[in-house]
Amino acid sequence: MTNPLAWVVDASLEATVVASFSRVGYATRSRVEGWIDPPSLAGRRVVITGATSGIGLAAATRLASLGAALTFVARDDAKARTTLATLVERSRNHRIDYLIGDMGDLADVRRVAASVREAGAVDVLIHNAGAITASRTLSPQGFETTIAVQLLGPFLLTHMLIPALSLTSPGRVLTVSSGGMYTQRFDLASLEMSAADYDGVTAYARVKRAQLVVNHEWARRLAAADVVFQTMHPGWTDTPGLAASLPRFHALVRPLLRTPTQGADTLVWLAGAREAVMSSGDLWLDRHQRREHRVPWTRPRDSRRDQMELWDWCVQRTRDFA
Ligand SMILES: NC(=O)c1ccc[n+]([C@@H]2O[C@H](COP(=O)([O-])OP(=O)(O)OC[C@H]3O[C@@H](n4cnc5c(N)ncnc54)[C@H](OP(=O)(O)O)[C@@H]3O)[C@@H](O)[C@H]2O)c1
Repeated sequence: MTNPLAWVVDASLEATVVASFSRVGYATRSRVEGWIDPPSLAGRRVVITGATSGIGLAAATRLASLGAALTFVARDDAKARTTLATLVERSRNHRIDYLIGDMGDLADVRRVAASVREAGAVDVLIHNAGAITASRTLSPQGFETTIAVQLLGPFLLTHMLIPALSLTSPGRVLTVSSGGMYTQRFDLASLEMSAADYDGVTAYARVKRAQLVVNHEWARRLAAADVVFQTMHPGWTDTPGLAASLPRFHALVRPLLRTPTQGADTLVWLAGAREAVMSSGDLWLDRHQRREHRVPWTRPRDSRRDQMELWDWCVQRTRDFA
């Protein structure tokens, strides 16, 4: 940030969660920093999950409006068809298609990845699909759903699309994490919660923390390849997902919530901005890199060990489908 006033304003907002995560943070930063539209994505191919609702729908609309050829992954055919019509109508872009697959089902993810690969190079892969799952349920392969949808499915999809991402210069893999991860320290032993201690919000926050850990490992392992890995968190955003999963929080802070377009802004910007390929393995909010810990007790004891253990854990659980 070259403008000292913008730096002071941004740092002051970032000092408090409410100011930074709410629409106040977005509105102030975008105004003080004079944000302009993200770069054109004409000629780029973008694959995004979770585009039927909320932040994903807003991101897909903007990505298509910026000229990207867009493939979205959805689990429900009727919703996918409605989403396709909405995206074409809003963006006037006809290079949009979809693939049906549940991100928590590794067999679906494998099939989706094979179809994406057949169509050639991918410039940007966006892992956005996600939710808080109130009661503990299992994926078709027997993994707890929060982990299956937001960690194992994306891990497999990324792995299978590395060849397609490597054909572009550089390929980008973007993951939508959550500010909820600031409450959790990564601990592989407590990642998969048992039926006895399951709590949906905690399970979600742990998986969102794990997304950052695995993102670092992707960045380290593929440092020599032409693919970068970034995570972002959208701030507090008024979406159907938030209203359904945290109704009391949603009602309480509603006037402060970002619109889906505001929540999706940094995601769309990372898809094309030069800044996003000058580093790898970072966390972003409102077009700037952010610290990954807000309180001392979430800091890792041994971050390298965490990364390697989580990597091996994901490989073991996905390798039959890779
Ligand atoms: N809203 C916030 O304040 C907030 C804050 C931090 C992080 N986030 C993150 O932002 C992302 C988007 O959330 P949102 O708030 O926009 O929620 P949302 O409105 O519920 O949208 C979630 C999207 O993910 C899809 N999805 C969920 N499970 C899936 C699965 N198993 N397979 C394929 N697609 C699946 C949903 O598809 P269906 O339409 O079929 O359900 C929907 O398109 C999530 O990763 C969430 O954790 C949101």
